[in-house]
Amino acid sequence: MPQIAAYEDMKAQKTQRQTPTGTAWRTNFISADEHNAATPVAFLVEGTEGRVIKPHFHENDQYQVIVHGNGVMGKHDLSVNAVHFTKGYTPYGPIIFGDQQMGFLTLRAHKDPGAQYLDEPEKLAKLKSIANRNPWQATELPKFTPVTDGAAVNAFTDIKGDAGLASFAMTVAANGRAMAPDPALTNGQYLIITRGSLIYQGKEYCALSVAFVTPEEGAFEVVAGADGVDALVLHFPRTWSTSTATTTTTTVQAKGAPGTRVWECMLCAFVYDEAKGMPDEGVAPGTPWEDVPEDWICPDCSTGKSEFQMRVVN
Ligand SMILES: [Fe+2]
Repeated sequence: MPQIAAYEDMKAQKTQRQTPTGTAWRTNFISADEHNAATPVAFLVEGTEGRVIKPHFHENDQYQVIVHGNGVMGKHDLSVNAVHFTKGYTPYGPIIFGDQQMGFLTLRAHKDPGAQYLDEPEKLAKLKSIANRNPWQATELPKFTPVTDGAAVNAFTDIKGDAGLASFAMTVAANGRAMAPDPALTNGQYLIITRGSLIYQGKEYCALSVAFVTPEEGAFEVVAGADGVDALVLHFPRTWSTSTATTTTTTVQAKGAPGTRVWECMLCAFVYDEAKGMPDEGVAPGTPWEDVPEDWICPDCSTGKSEFQMRVVN
């Protein structure tokens, strides 16, 4: 039976603590079974303006969904409904909470030992020691299509891959019903109610609510309340180590003339293509790596230039 929890029911257990950079809150939605690693965990993280979560990685694949406020992750802007997917052993951050504060869900299909910070030498060494690591991350805003009848399901275009990795923005009309995408060939599925409400077993689950469906449970029937429902449908890939979601390797000639080479972050796989430059950061197309400022940091994981290597095409 799918696990489901509404913020309204869970907020009484919200915990608060002080961090060096601000106040932090955590609200558990779904708690992993201590004795079974293959159980999901879902919780809401909130923080005051300026709170910083340092660059880190987790061992398990993870979704994050911004549910209120704003902030940044690395150099990427985060806004309401943004979905970030991070494969296991992919560093990201820092996460900086913005001026409207920020709340984001953290969603995993498996229990995880927690954040492992890059500024701890043993954790960085551990990350580098993992064989067959396949770092990859992406952020994408969902596209919900309003409907007055029936349902609409829009697949994400960036957060997708093999081994079942996929995400969808699903809208069901007022008092309508529709089957969500089937999680059978995934490592599990989250449904996040971001607007309206879902009726399940006679109870109304309003936004914000979180459900987890195992691959064995089959497609979940979304029954909408009187205002309809918007739901994010988030599929985990069956295994991170064999997924080829990152094999977008271009065949750009890497050897040779400055201005045509490709450099890759050895921690998170961010790619700097000299031919394209990084116009958003004031680095013009054709800028050789040597001319990128020495204090430049990776947009995805905040590491320095020293962790980059030139990609060599054989
Ligand atoms: Fe990086």
